[in-house]
Amino acid sequence: MDLLIKTKSEDIMEAEVLFVPVLEDEQAIKNTIKSLQYDDQAWVLDKMSKEKFTGKKDQILIMPDDEQVVIFIGTGQAAKLSVEDWRQIAGQVVAYLKRYSAQSIAMVASHWLKGNQNVRALTQAMAEGILLAGYDFDKYKKEDSSKIKLNLEKVFVLAKANQRVKLKQGWQVGLWLAEGTIKARDLVNEPASVMTPTYLARQAEQIAKVNKSISAKILEKAQVKKMGMNAFLAVDQGSSQVPKFIHLIYKPTGRTKDKIAIVGKGVTFDSGGLNIKTGDSMEQMKIDMGGAATVVGLFSVLAQLKPKVEVHGVIAACENMPSGAAIKPGDIVKNMQGKSIEIGNTDAEGRVTMADSLAYAQKQGISKVVDLATLTGAVMAALGTDYAGLFANDEKLAKGLLKAGDVSGENLWLLPLPLEYKKLNQSKVADIKNIPSTRYGGAITAALFLQEFIEEDVKWAHLDIAAPVYAEKPMNSYTPVGGVGFGVRTLFEWLNIL
Ligand code: BES
Ligand code: ZN
Ligand code: ZN
Repeated sequence: MDLLIKTKSEDIMEAEVLFVPVLEDEQAIKNTIKSLQYDDQAWVLDKMSKEKFTGKKDQILIMPDDEQVVIFIGTGQAAKLSVEDWRQIAGQVVAYLKRYSAQSIAMVASHWLKGNQNVRALTQAMAEGILLAGYDFDKYKKEDSSKIKLNLEKVFVLAKANQRVKLKQGWQVGLWLAEGTIKARDLVNEPASVMTPTYLARQAEQIAKVNKSISAKILEKAQVKKMGMNAFLAVDQGSSQVPKFIHLIYKPTGRTKDKIAIVGKGVTFDSGGLNIKTGDSMEQMKIDMGGAATVVGLFSVLAQLKPKVEVHGVIAACENMPSGAAIKPGDIVKNMQGKSIEIGNTDAEGRVTMADSLAYAQKQGISKVVDLATLTGAVMAALGTDYAGLFANDEKLAKGLLKAGDVSGENLWLLPLPLEYKKLNQSKVADIKNIPSTRYGGAITAALFLQEFIEEDVKWAHLDIAAPVYAEKPMNSYTPVGGVGFGVRTLFEWLNIL
């Protein structure tokens, strides 16, 4: 899919479909139409008024024509569109392309590129929106010959000549970020019988194999044991799969600005263990490696994106299964830092595996660590389906991630780490217990549990992505049902502002 920048409106006539975002403002509509190649502008305006098209958000007016279908999309009264608005418009465009099967489209962006708007962000969002909206996990379905496959070859954008370089740069970054996000979506959508710790480790190795700036270390069970990661191994012990500890390293060429770690929860299936999940609460539990999927998805495009930061990706990958060998409530295990954990409930396993993956990450000489985990059902009760809960021990880190989320269109909400709640995780027999003494504030107590394993001088943020890891219904125009690939784009934005 190529981006072609054109400066004159007659040059975009070649496109089969023309998309024109219009503000809800009479004068703006007139100006927009004036800039297009219509012989009879009055006729277009008349048609708009007959169809009651005023530019209200998400209103759509289609003007069929033999030569070029023109689709007006209402954008509401916003003085200028946000980057996320553009991403969503691009997603809407794809919904239409699935009907028209066009190979070339044009977007009129000139009106939106006034002043000091971030030109690069515009095409980045367009590329992301188009590719992500076209995503479908249909590899296990019979081929549907009546389904129109997205087959877009050319995207024209009407803009100024001096904006060309930036528009092109943004487009390329958007394509890469969409690719990384799609990688993460694929991993989440894959059934757990395929998506095993071994499969996940192979994905990491594959990425390292094709990218010079990335290496992968896979630690086998014996090495993990030698390093003292007994908390991680305790969660694994009921499974007949072998565990894998995955360590990806990206090294930038040239000066390294910072050294950071991204840790992903990698429970490839969470049955709950002996505290087995009941009813339909187990059905979706292949998604419990969503944090790991984000790490792998990001690494799959890091070599192309070339951030100036050294990045360590860390995943403790295993299953949580019941069996005669499984960990039992009442057991006490030690993580690699020597902290003892009382297992109150085997279904609170993510935090136990992460006691070791976080400890390992901090041994890599990093200054900051961000973890992503499908950690609690409680965060879904607190924030609903579209938000990740954000926790951080450092204000600047929290602000950076919130800002990155704003740009990427991924919703994060800051939640507290109250000192006075720490006692809720106390154990009578060990240093800490994996379930709190109260059923309230479960996302917070889980985050406080993780914090116990963070060293004094390390800046740490935790994203509980249990809700937005998976869309039960389409989340927006570019996020269909299934794995979301949540966090790939936000993390990249964050790496760039470090
Ligand atoms: N993987 C689950 C959390 C989860 C729930 C993710 C729903 C996505 C959707 C986690 O391991 C878990 O089971 N947490 C328990 C903790 C409880 C036993 C303290 C929970 O949230 O119920
Ligand atoms: Zn669980
Ligand atoms: Zn889990």
